[in-house]
Amino acid sequence: MFFRKKITVAGTLAALVVLGIAASAPAEPTYKNLKVLPKNISHEELDSVMHQFNRSLGVKCSFCHAPKKDNPRKLDFASDDKGEKNVARDMMRMTDRINRKYFNYKKGDQHAIPPVGCMTCHNGTPHPEAMAPKEEKKEEKKTAPAAQQNSGQ
Ligand code: HEC
Ligand code: HEC
Repeated sequence: MFFRKKITVAGTLAALVVLGIAASAPAEPTYKNLKVLPKNISHEELDSVMHQFNRSLGVKCSFCHAPKKDNPRKLDFASDDKGEKNVARDMMRMTDRINRKYFNYKKGDQHAIPPVGCMTCHNGTPHPEAMAPKEEKKEEKKTAPAAQQNSGQ
C-alpha cells in the first residue's frame, strides 16, 4: 500500500518534469535578468541559491525583491528596483573572489563546497556585526550552566 503510493508520487513528479521541459524548451531562457548566476541555471538550482540567501541572512524573498507594479502582493523577481538585490549581486561577486583568491577555490573542484559563503559573515542576520562581543558577555555565558545546576536542587 505504502509502497505503491510512493511509486505514484514518483510517477507524477517525472511527468511534471517532462512537461516542464517540453513547455520551456522552445521559449527563451527561464530567467530574464541574471547577471552573476549562469543564465542556463536550472529552476532547482536557482531555488536552492535563493533559499540559502533567505536562511543565511534571516530574511524573506521580499528583502531583495520588489513587488509587482500591477499586483503589490506578488514579487517581480526580474526587477532591479530594490537596492538590496544589487548589493546582493556585489556580495556574490565578492564571495566568489574571496574563495578563488584567498582560498584557492576553483569552481570545477570536486567536493566543491566553497569555504566562504553568505552564512560565514551573515550568520542569520542582514547586518553582520563589525565589533567583537564585549568581554562581559562571555562571562555571563560561562556562569549560566552553573546557575542552572543550582536551580535544579
Ligand atoms: C539577499 C537577496 C536575495 C534574496 C533574499 C532572494 N533573492 Fe532572488 N535574486 C537575488 C539576486 C541578486 C538575483 C539576481 C542574480 C543574478 O543577477 O545573477 C535574484 C534572482 C532571482 C530570480 C530570477 C529572476 C529573473 O528572471 O531574472 C528569481 C526567480 C528569484 N531570485 C527568486 C527568489 C525567491 C523565490 C526568493 C525567496 C525564496 C529569493 N529570490 C530571495 C537576490 C535575492
Ligand atoms: C566577508 C563577509 C561577507 C560575506 C561573505 C557576505 N556578506 Fe553581505 N554583508 C557583509 C557586511 C559586513 C554587510 C553590512 C554592510 C553595512 O552594514 O554597511 C553586508 C550587507 C549585505 C546586504 C545589505 C543589507 C542591507 O540591509 O542593506 C546584503 C543584501 C548582503 N550583504 C547579501 C549577501 C549575500 C547574498 C551574500 C552571499 C552571496 C553575502 N552578503 C556575503 C558581509 C558579508
